[in-house]
Amino acid sequence: MPLYFVKLGGSVITDTAKPDTAKVNEIDRLAKEIKAGIGENKMLLGHGSGSFGHVAVHKYGLEKGLSGQESAYGAALAHKTVHELNNIVIDVLTQNGINAIKFPPSAGGLTKNGRITSWNPANIISALNYGFVPVVFGDLFIDSVKGVHAASTEQVFEYLATKIRPNVVIAAGDIDGVFDSDPKINKDAKLIEHIDSSNIRQALKGTGGSLKIDVTGGMRTKLMLLYKIAKKYGAKCMIINATVPGRLQKALIGEEVVGTVIEA
Ligand SMILES: Nc1ncnc2c1ncn2[C@@H]1O[C@H](COP(=O)(O)OP(=O)(O)OP(=O)(O)O)[C@@H](O)[C@H]1O
Ligand SMILES: [Mg+2]
Repeated sequence: MPLYFVKLGGSVITDTAKPDTAKVNEIDRLAKEIKAGIGENKMLLGHGSGSFGHVAVHKYGLEKGLSGQESAYGAALAHKTVHELNNIVIDVLTQNGINAIKFPPSAGGLTKNGRITSWNPANIISALNYGFVPVVFGDLFIDSVKGVHAASTEQVFEYLATKIRPNVVIAAGDIDGVFDSDPKINKDAKLIEHIDSSNIRQALKGTGGSLKIDVTGGMRTKLMLLYKIAKKYGAKCMIINATVPGRLQKALIGEEVVGTVIEA
C-alpha cells in the first residue's frame, strides 16, 4: 500500500495576515478532499503553523534559540499557539471521519543545533499499520545546544522519511509550485513543472524565503528538503496549490494537476 506524506501549508490553513487565525472553512474543505482522495493508501499528514507559530517565534527572536527569561516565556507561548492550531486541525479532520491521531514532534524528538537527532517514531509506524492517519506539524523542539528550534513540517518529514519511507510526498501551499523566481514579486515568473538532478541547482537559485513573517525558510528550504527526500528515498515529491478547490484531491488520486514534480 503506497504511503503518502501530505503537508497542508500554513499559508492555506491560516490567515497569514492575522496572528492566531485559522481558516476553518479551508481546513474543512481540505479534510473533505483528503477523505475523498485517500482511498486505500496510508497517509501521514503534516501541517504548517502559518500565523500561529511564525509570528510568536519571530517576536521573541527564537530563530536563534533562547536568550534569557523573556525568550523562554516567548517559547512557551509559541509552543502553546502551534499546538492550538493542531487541535483545530485534529477537530476538523475527525469531524470529517478521518481517524487522525496527533504525534507532536516536540514531544518525541530533540534537536541539536537545529538538526533532529533523536526521535523514535515506532508509535507512528504502528499507528499507520492500524490504518490511523498520524498528524505531525511544524513545531518548536527543545534543542540541546540553543534551547529551542523551530522546525518546519518539511524538516519533520525529512527526518521521518529516514525511518518511514514515503512513496509520495505532497506539499500543498498557496502557490502553484516552484517558479523561476518568486511569483509574488515577479509577475512574469514561470512555473517549473519538473525538477530533477539536471535542473535542481538552477531551480534553487530562483527560490527564496516567504514575503510573510517566516522563520523556516519559505520555498527555498522546502525545495531543498523535498529534493533530499526524492533523492535519498526515491519518493515522488510534489508542490501544489491547495487554495484551488479539488487540486489536492486530484493529486491524491493520481490525476495530473498543475504543480511541480520533484524526482531525483
Ligand atoms: N521561486 C519561487 N517559487 C515559488 N514560491 C517562492 C519562490 N521563491 C520564494 N517563494 C515564496 O515561498 C512561499 C511559500 O513558502 P511558505 O513557507 O511561505 O509556504 P508554506 O510552507 O505553505 O507555509 P508554512 O511555512 O507556514 O507552512 C511562496 O508564497 C512564495 O512567496
Ligand atoms: Mg514554509
